Amino acid sequence: MYTPRFAGLRLFGSILCLLLLRTGDARSAESSAQARHINSQRLQATLEKLSEFGRNSEGGVTRLGFSQTELDARTYVMSLMEDAGLEVRVDPAGNIFGRRSGSDQLPALLFGSHIDSVPHGGNFDGTLGSLGAIEVIRALNDGHITTRHPLEVVIWTNEEGPHFGISALGSGVAAGVLGPEILDRKDDDGLTVADWLRRYGQDPSHLTDARIPHGALAAVLELHIEQGPVLEETKVQIGVVKGIVSLKRWKCVATGFANHAGTTPMNRRKDALAAAAKDLLAVRDAVRAETGTQVGTVGYLRAEPGAPNVIPGRVEFPVELRDLDAGKIERMWQSIQQRIAQTDKEEGVETRCEVINDIAAALSDPSVQSVIREAARSAGLSTADMPSGAVHDAGEISRIAPMGMIFVPSHDGISHAPQEFTSWDDSANGVEVLYRSILLLDLRLQPN
Ligand code: GLV
Ligand code: MN
Ligand code: MN
Repeated sequence: MYTPRFAGLRLFGSILCLLLLRTGDARSAESSAQARHINSQRLQATLEKLSEFGRNSEGGVTRLGFSQTELDARTYVMSLMEDAGLEVRVDPAGNIFGRRSGSDQLPALLFGSHIDSVPHGGNFDGTLGSLGAIEVIRALNDGHITTRHPLEVVIWTNEEGPHFGISALGSGVAAGVLGPEILDRKDDDGLTVADWLRRYGQDPSHLTDARIPHGALAAVLELHIEQGPVLEETKVQIGVVKGIVSLKRWKCVATGFANHAGTTPMNRRKDALAAAAKDLLAVRDAVRAETGTQVGTVGYLRAEPGAPNVIPGRVEFPVELRDLDAGKIERMWQSIQQRIAQTDKEEGVETRCEVINDIAAALSDPSVQSVIREAARSAGLSTADMPSGAVHDAGEISRIAPMGMIFVPSHDGISHAPQEFTSWDDSANGVEVLYRSILLLDLRLQPN
């Protein structure tokens, strides 16, 4: 097992020391802080190119995990990895890995993110951490730097999850928390996860070969936009993630009776949409009844048959609850279920809900957090510790390796929307901190 126990500081033998060590000389400390090893223009060019895959008229992207659009984008990203000299492979869950050898026989340092988006999403969620990871490799190549650990850039499959309702799918499989039970899950076109894996060139019967054993990774890092307003409002440049919330998601179906909207008296209706509307408000009430930062969302109501002159007979809707405390999620769900049962009686419908996604909270490794703080400080950047209300692939990988996440500001706190924006300076800051964190971890991590 590999744990983040740190070696004593080596004074010689590493370019990193020259870059990062405090010398006590104010001028050299300042120039070290200002030095940028990563190339901001090169990063911007690749992010702009990637945003062409699935671009929509609003300026954002729709690039769902498991779609032809994402498949095309993956081809582009794999070509970038190969151009950077990485040895590229795809695992049976569709996760893309690009490996750069290290000088020693050590477990790999893994870093990257995802390139799929939500419908009508933005251009930075996942992509900054993905292309930022490739930029780190290019910068290391430019500096002719060899690390002790092998480095692996990763692009995870289907992080967002609207397709099939499973968030962090590829990393969940890699961490061993998801398995073959997901393969038969169907999408709206009747295609299964297994069908899509085949389209991605994989053999679904080998899905579990994508599992990464405990101890196989030295650490995992993910750079990501904050997706909230805190860093921008507090004028802090780098967020050091302390932990990631847990997420539980149910698919609910309210079944009533589709009937004539003009001739069915109001007291004889079994209106599934009226019931689902009450259920939606029940979710909001249950979440608001608790103190804290928990959130709950009903992302859509899909009413059938969906005609103005037919009473909806069937409505599908998801319920999603998030908080760091899984106990609170269960408590809120109990209260929601009671309200759903009551509404069913009032409206003459039957509502059934099944769990479709259950992601446990994840804590960042304290030593990896310290490294990120130190890396940011060495680059002259301010930091704040913060939780993540969004889920991330790194959270799943924290089950098998020490994990850390670097956040950069999101303009106006907007994300999962075409207006999502992080300035090029903030983007470059994040990639520079990723670069410095990787080198610090490489220097300090010690096998047990
Ligand atoms: C992913 O971005 C999520 O938190 O849903
Ligand atoms: Mn993301
Ligand atoms: Mn997202």
